[in-house]
Amino acid sequence: RRIAIVAGGYSSEFPVSLRSAQGIYSFMDEDRYDIYIVKLTRDEWFVELPDGETSEIDKNDFSFVEGGRIRHFDFVYITIHGTPGEDGRLQGYLDMIGLPYSTCDTLVSAMTFNKFVCNRYLHAFGIPIAHSIVLRNGQTVSDREIVEQIGLPCFIKPNVGGSSCGATKVKIEEEIQPAIKKAFDEGKEVIIEAFMAGTEITCGCYKTRKRDVVLPVTEVVSKNEFFDYEAKYTASKVEEITPARLSEEMTAKVQERTSFIYDILGCKGIIRVDYIIVGKEPYLLEVNTTPGMTETSFIPQQVKAAGMEMKQVLSEIIEDEML
Ligand code: DAL
Ligand code: MG
Repeated sequence: RRIAIVAGGYSSEFPVSLRSAQGIYSFMDEDRYDIYIVKLTRDEWFVELPDGETSEIDKNDFSFVEGGRIRHFDFVYITIHGTPGEDGRLQGYLDMIGLPYSTCDTLVSAMTFNKFVCNRYLHAFGIPIAHSIVLRNGQTVSDREIVEQIGLPCFIKPNVGGSSCGATKVKIEEEIQPAIKKAFDEGKEVIIEAFMAGTEITCGCYKTRKRDVVLPVTEVVSKNEFFDYEAKYTASKVEEITPARLSEEMTAKVQERTSFIYDILGCKGIIRVDYIIVGKEPYLLEVNTTPGMTETSFIPQQVKAAGMEMKQVLSEIIEDEML
């Protein structure tokens, strides 16, 4: 079976995606699959061949030419963070050409990648979330309104994006407008969320026809002001503890909530849900449908802590989609 690990994309998370693709490549069962890395940039889509050459992807059917022969993929493992791999666009394209893939479908990807939409939707099912407002297309808001409606500190970030690109923790009024501008530089919508002091945690989950797996919970202790881009990708800037130092009761609550969110949304493949525990309640931060997969990312850590192997997990997901 020929598998494309699709990486790159059109967002600031491009370099992270390349590392996730390397991670997935190293975890995947080489005896079972013929694995290729396909890179998508705004200018071109191409596949890396074993001889070090590259070949252009035919966008009509995602095929390519190798050794003078046209080759087709059987499955696409998406490791693009951000657009077009995490927001439903690539999923829509793959549905149109009839290629199975590893992630949630178009609707669920588009919904979950929009923090405001996803969090409000899940809130309607009883999931606690931070108080927030959204600004669209350069819409303005006064410092006073932010202070009155959301309070300080608050988080100002692109509504659609990941890895904390363009995100700021704002503590004083003077920082509000520059933070809004910075977030608008990343995209058309900005979300402003109340800051919650608590314990940041994250929990992975995947379900197939054969079994439901909710992974151990990881606790995140950032040494920076918050779990920003630098802390996310610099080992010395963060402590990641798996399993998290939580009571059995709290661990169960987080895992049940993650499983519930998976079902309510109708997810596919591996997702990772981030929360902040305030008092006795895990508040939803966001749902990630193409979570980081570098060798040291949370999901591989959690799989290991569960006594499982990434190779097995990936095979289960691929085989379930190809049935
Ligand atoms: N957006 C990053 C890759 C994550 O959620 O893991
Ligand atoms: Mg994210």
